[in-house]
Amino acid sequence: MIRACTVDELPPGESVRLPGPPAIAVFNAGGQLYAIGDTCTHQDASLADGWLEGCFVECPLHAALFDLRTGMPTCLPAKDPVPTYTVRVDDGVVYVRGVAGEDAA
Ligand code: FES
Repeated sequence: MIRACTVDELPPGESVRLPGPPAIAVFNAGGQLYAIGDTCTHQDASLADGWLEGCFVECPLHAALFDLRTGMPTCLPAKDPVPTYTVRVDDGVVYVRGVAGEDAA
């Protein structure tokens, strides 16, 4: 598990970027937390800098839309999914799981 931030540091509508590698973007979409790969699969934009729209994030560079639940792009120009990671909250701290080499913790 990787410590991302405290719950207070990630209010609804906000995101945090974990530099990695791999870089991970953690979002609070209306109170639900999601973690996906931060790097857009079209080019190298940071999705943590994108715009939240419900359970989707719009890439800040060319506006591809990714589903935070699955990592799948829902429109061009991105064609490939970004990875998704499990988010856990424990005692007011947000953790991300699923990064290679970090699962055993
Ligand atoms: S870099 Fe994300 S859509 Fe182009």
